[in-house]
Amino acid sequence: MQRKYPHLAEPLAVGRALLKNRMVSAPLGATDITADGSPGPRTSGFYELRAKGGAAAVTASELTVHPATDGSQMLHLSLKNPGQLAAFTFLADAINRHGALASVELSHSGQYAGTYMVDKKSKGELHQWGPSDWTRPDGMPVKALAVEQLQDIVKAYAEAASLAKRAGFRMVMVHAGHTWLLNQFLSPFFNHRKDRYGGSLENRARLAVEVLQAVREAVGPGFPIECRISGSEFFEGGYDLDDGVRIAQIFQDYCDILHVSAGSYQYGFSITHPSQFRPHGCNVFLAEEIKRHLRIPVATVGGLSDPDQMEEIVASGKADIVVMGRGLLADPYIPRKVLAGHGDDVNKCLRCFVCMAERPATQTRRCAINPLIGREIEGTEIEPAPVKRKVLVVGGGIAGLVAACTAAKRGHQVTLAEKGGALGGILLAEQALPFKREMYELTQTYARRAARLGVEVLLDTEVDAAWAEGRDFDAAILALGSAALGSPLKLTDSSTTPTAAHVHDLEDYYLHGGELADEVIVLGAGLSGVECAIGLAEQGKTVHLVGADPELCPDANIRQRPILLDKLSELKIDAQVGLFGQSYDGQTLRASEAGDPAAWHEFKGGDVVLAVGRKARADAAKALLEIAPLTRMVGDCLRPANVTTAVYEAYHAALDL
Ligand SMILES: Cc1cc2nc3c(=O)[nH]c(=O)nc-3n(C[C@H](O)[C@H](O)[C@H](O)COP(=O)(O)O)c2cc1C
Repeated sequence: MQRKYPHLAEPLAVGRALLKNRMVSAPLGATDITADGSPGPRTSGFYELRAKGGAAAVTASELTVHPATDGSQMLHLSLKNPGQLAAFTFLADAINRHGALASVELSHSGQYAGTYMVDKKSKGELHQWGPSDWTRPDGMPVKALAVEQLQDIVKAYAEAASLAKRAGFRMVMVHAGHTWLLNQFLSPFFNHRKDRYGGSLENRARLAVEVLQAVREAVGPGFPIECRISGSEFFEGGYDLDDGVRIAQIFQDYCDILHVSAGSYQYGFSITHPSQFRPHGCNVFLAEEIKRHLRIPVATVGGLSDPDQMEEIVASGKADIVVMGRGLLADPYIPRKVLAGHGDDVNKCLRCFVCMAERPATQTRRCAINPLIGREIEGTEIEPAPVKRKVLVVGGGIAGLVAACTAAKRGHQVTLAEKGGALGGILLAEQALPFKREMYELTQTYARRAARLGVEVLLDTEVDAAWAEGRDFDAAILALGSAALGSPLKLTDSSTTPTAAHVHDLEDYYLHGGELADEVIVLGAGLSGVECAIGLAEQGKTVHLVGADPELCPDANIRQRPILLDKLSELKIDAQVGLFGQSYDGQTLRASEAGDPAAWHEFKGGDVVLAVGRKARADAAKALLEIAPLTRMVGDCLRPANVTTAVYEAYHAALDL
């Protein structure tokens, strides 16, 4: 058999275990965790889906080894807590039974632990534990760990590893990256110790080496140990790639896989979790360089989900293993699709950070484009429908596409009617922004899937009661989307072309383009306005971003928003808030202050792009409620929301048919 991605499919021996292919699920923190640190059933379900999808190993995380000095990471494994070993055993089973190696990440957060969970009694004297005494930039005092405490921590790693093995885990990962404790010791920025744990790189590496040695002793020879490091810390005063190579060389004597991540959670989040503004695989070069100096397998991670790119990474020897975090949330079945050669059927991660932002918001996980994430135990399979129905889906945007494909998978006979000339809806417009390409691609992936599933697609088809009459649909899913709100600007003509020709609806501009002036005003500073301003500035335009809300992109999630704000300042975009655009004459936009309508501000620009919001096509959808016995409105036509909501509602509406 000729495989399309032969290198990704090739097994790899690690210690005495075998990775069945080269695609591994990155450590992704769990959310369903009991008060004593045990994984709950939703956590098992969360990791199990990645194992079902064909990953060679699935790493549960993070397991804190030493609660006395740690606390921010939530899993913990100790025989002192009744039932805890059993809970971990169920978790390991859930991964192992699908042929993936169950692995667990052992960690200590050091000076970035949640102190409030550590020392509940002495809230008056809150501090955290790290390599050296100092005060964090946020004012939190950090105390240096004493050598006896370090020895206790090393012992705790070994105990956790031993218990993990007993629970059925077939691999362990020691986390020495991302500015957690072992990384804090490695880092010349944080580690100013004068004892044998500070100073030279060998000394700074000592704690991690002792941990790796103790873990080896606990799990025995041949049991695979993966060590995760940041190949470079990527901040001033931290260690660089040359040091990363030396650290890896030291560690390779004590582990079976060197896992090369990047940067620092605290000082470079968008490097550690490459944002949409970074190229896919932007951290691969770290693994590639480190691999040149090692004799053990090297793993790479960061912004990976494209099978062609991952195949090239392994084929060219840049890394032996590709690790996916968000990619396998967006599409847990990437490994199986790769093995089957269906690379074009992958739902690629949008890198929108919904996954990370959801935990602080609701204590759950979500993925914008995968409705199952965080809810796996409610069912991950699409079962055949007991009664096959004739289903109409109205609207070919992302909600309509998800509904149509899901209904077709259930065996229903599905017709998808789209009034425009192409499938994709509002997300078609995203192809204009290079950093949102995956959003557009998602629609095209679903369009191909719909064709494969036998969905009858009718383009240029406006559905109304008369059209539906006689077609005898049993059910209809109404996914009519939203429309642009009109312009709030009073236009006056002062230039040679009418001013209206210089005022563009965002979506229209993205879809139909046209050259804009060198100086442009984006009116509306929500997420879509901010993204538009970034896109225009990246084309070299001078951009004024004018928003009515008191802050920029309040609708961006808490992980994505700081990255967008950084980008605005990096591109020197003039961003103003609390202003209502009132008039435009082809050259100058006048805006009044929210709190003082008599206070006026003027912005120069030869064109205005409107990003002032959208309205639901609710009336049009309501007019179709009688076209079939069962009808359901989903997505933006209920109220303008986001991809996460559209996908979730559409998927479940199709399951309910
Ligand atoms: C939701 C989420 C949770 C994460 N939790 C952990 C964790 O517990 N431990 C860890 O080492 N890395 C964690 N990471 C980082 C990932 O393992 C990975 O290094 C990072 O997301 C970059 O890979 P990606 O671009 O494939 O997502 C997490 C990432 C995400 C998105």
